[in-house]
Amino acid sequence: MSGISDSFQRPINYLRISVTDRCNLRCIYCMPSQGISLVPHGELLSYEEILVVVRAAVELNITRVRLTGGEPLVRSKLVDLVRMLSSTEGIDDLSLTTNGVLLRHYAPALKKAGLKRVNISLDSLQKDRFRYITGYDGLAEVLQGIEAAHDAGLEPVKINTVVMRGINDTEIIDFAHLAQEGWHVRFIELMPNQFAVQFFNLSFMSAYQVKQQLTSLGNLESCLSSSGNGPAKYYRLPGAKGTIGFITPVSEHFCFSCNRLRLTAQGGLLPCLLSDEQIDVKQPLRRGALPDELKQLLEQAVAAKPPGHRLAQGVIPQRRSMSQVGG
Ligand code: GTP
Ligand code: 5AD
Ligand code: SF4
Repeated sequence: MSGISDSFQRPINYLRISVTDRCNLRCIYCMPSQGISLVPHGELLSYEEILVVVRAAVELNITRVRLTGGEPLVRSKLVDLVRMLSSTEGIDDLSLTTNGVLLRHYAPALKKAGLKRVNISLDSLQKDRFRYITGYDGLAEVLQGIEAAHDAGLEPVKINTVVMRGINDTEIIDFAHLAQEGWHVRFIELMPNQFAVQFFNLSFMSAYQVKQQLTSLGNLESCLSSSGNGPAKYYRLPGAKGTIGFITPVSEHFCFSCNRLRLTAQGGLLPCLLSDEQIDVKQPLRRGALPDELKQLLEQAVAAKPPGHRLAQGVIPQRRSMSQVGG
C-alpha cells in the first residue's frame, strides 16, 4: 500500500472527522455569540457513511484518525462509532478531541471500544473565568473528565489551552506547574476568525511571549511527544514529569509539514482548516458511490491542498466557524 502526497510533496496520513457541529459550550473565540445555525440531523453523515469514507482513506494509507466536533461527545452513541473505527483494519491511531464536560461519563466505554487517547480543551483553572470563556459553569466537570481519562488509560491525555491576553494569560504559570506535576499541556495561539477580528487583535499572544513568562521556571528543553500527529512542538521544564507543547498557527505556521484532511459533519472534505474550499462526499455517498469514487474524491481533496494558510495576507475563512470544523 503506497501513501498519498499532495502537490507539495507532503505525505497525507491523518484524517480529522468532525462528527457534529453542535457543542455544549460557547467558547468566545470559537462561535459567534448569537450561535450558529445548526445542521438538521439528517444532513449529518451517519456513522455507516463515515465508515465508508474512512475505509477509502485507509486504502490511501491515511491511517490516523481523530474525532472532533463541535463537541463529539454530544452526538449520540459516539462509542459505537469508535468501536466501528477501531475494528477497521489499517487504522494505526484513533483519538478524540473533546471539551471534557461529558468525558467522565464516557471515558471507560470509549477505552473499551478501542479509543487510544484524548486531547482535552481547557483554557482556565478558575471557576469564574472558565464560565466567562465557555459560557458554562463546568470547570469541575472537565477536571473530573481529565481524571476519568487517566483512570481509563486514554494516554497520553493532552490539555489544549488557547492563550488570550487579558483573559487567561495570568494562568500560564499555573498550567506550567501542572506540567511539572505530570500534565501534558499545549499552549495554542489564538487564530482569527470572521466574527471576532477585533477580539483577535486585542487578545492574541504569541508562543514566544508565553515562553518568556515561563523563563522563571527554568530552561525549556526540547523533547518528543510520546504520540502525536499534530503540529505541536514539545518541551520539558527541568525535573518536570509532564511536557509543555506549543501550537503556533500564527507566529510560526507549520503548513509546510501539514499531513491532514478534514471531514465535516455534513460530509465536506476540507483541504485546509483555514480555507473555505470543500469537496462534497455526502451526495456521492447517498447515491451509492463505489469505493473507487470515494478514493478519487479524497485524492481530489489532497490535490487541492494549498501550500499554506494566508492569515498573514488577511485571508480568513468566511463560511465556517471553528466549531463546524473541529479546530
Ligand atoms: P496530536 O495527534 O495529539 O498531535 O493532536 P492534534 O494536535 O493534531 O489535535 P488537536 O485536535 O488537539 O489540535 C489542537 C489544535 O491545534 C487545534 O484545535 C487547532 O487549534 C490546532 N490545529 C490542529 N491542526 C491544525 C491545522 O492543520 N492548521 C492549523 N492552523 N491549526 C491546527
Ligand atoms: N484559535 C485557536 N484554537 C481554536 N480552537 C477553536 N477555535 C480556535 C481559535 N480561534 C481550538 C480549541 C480546541 C479545539 C477544538 O479548537 O482550543 O482545543
Ligand atoms: Fe469551545 Fe470546542 Fe465548543 Fe468550540 S467546539 S465552542 S472550542 S468547546
